Amino acid sequence: MAIFSSSTRQVPEAVAVPCHVAVIMDGNGRWAKKRLLPRVAGHVKGVELVREMVRTCLERGIGFLTLFAFSSENWRRPQEEVTLLMQLFVKALEQEVEKLGRNGVRLRVVGDLPRFGPQLQELIHRAEEKTAGNSRLTLTIAANYGGRWDIMQAANRLAQATPERLGAWTEADLEPFLSMHFAPEPDLFIRTGGEERISNFLLWQLAYTELYFTPTLWPDFTTAEFDKAIASFQKRERRFGRTSEQLTEPPNA
Ligand code: IPE
Ligand code: IPE
Ligand code: MG
Repeated sequence: MAIFSSSTRQVPEAVAVPCHVAVIMDGNGRWAKKRLLPRVAGHVKGVELVREMVRTCLERGIGFLTLFAFSSENWRRPQEEVTLLMQLFVKALEQEVEKLGRNGVRLRVVGDLPRFGPQLQELIHRAEEKTAGNSRLTLTIAANYGGRWDIMQAANRLAQATPERLGAWTEADLEPFLSMHFAPEPDLFIRTGGEERISNFLLWQLAYTELYFTPTLWPDFTTAEFDKAIASFQKRERRFGRTSEQLTEPPNA
């Protein structure tokens, strides 16, 4: 299983199927609005599509799936929606962990978790522990996550760990402190819902990720839609700074 790899320090291996897919699951609210339903109905439907995507990743041999569930800026939403999203998160953790565990899925949650309070943190901790022995698919939920927060917390911890090296720190020094230190950088980023922006998701890790934007709303993002994203990925030429010609030359030519 691939461990952390850096696209700026070495050229990653070409892969036919992405090893790591990162997703901004956007458009739940608009999906509900189109049906004259409350926004929460879109979030409920969205959880079903998460189940489907996990199944597809297992079938396709994708080793890492990272889902943006709640951003550090989503606290700005109406209190009622925030509360409902938290309740859905708790419910999903309580109901899905056994099945994930049986299917070889390791669950991880990244983000600024203390803001969630001790009960939810404990639930997260137990879910992570229960599935810690699995390695077929690592499902990472980014909750109260922000890319800038991630880089800052890593920088602060690095500074505490090796204050004597101030001014000499490298990318390689920082990377073990980043939230996603256990995963290779994403090969494919998907954002549903039509917006073409990163919204403070994995800022460091997306440096060389292939970006895929689709107007399809998250509750409509079925396996067939996911396969379109994978097919688009497979057509891309990933140069990592090199020329096209270099890609066909034998190594060290
Ligand atoms: C994404 O859907 C889910 C979360 C941010 C939790 P939205 O709720 O942002 O849906 P739209 O963008 O309003 O349609
Ligand atoms: C991004 O979606 C965050 C998640 C999907 C969790 P938003 O709907 O919050 O993003 P913006 O506000 O449109 O950029
Ligand atoms: Mg949105």
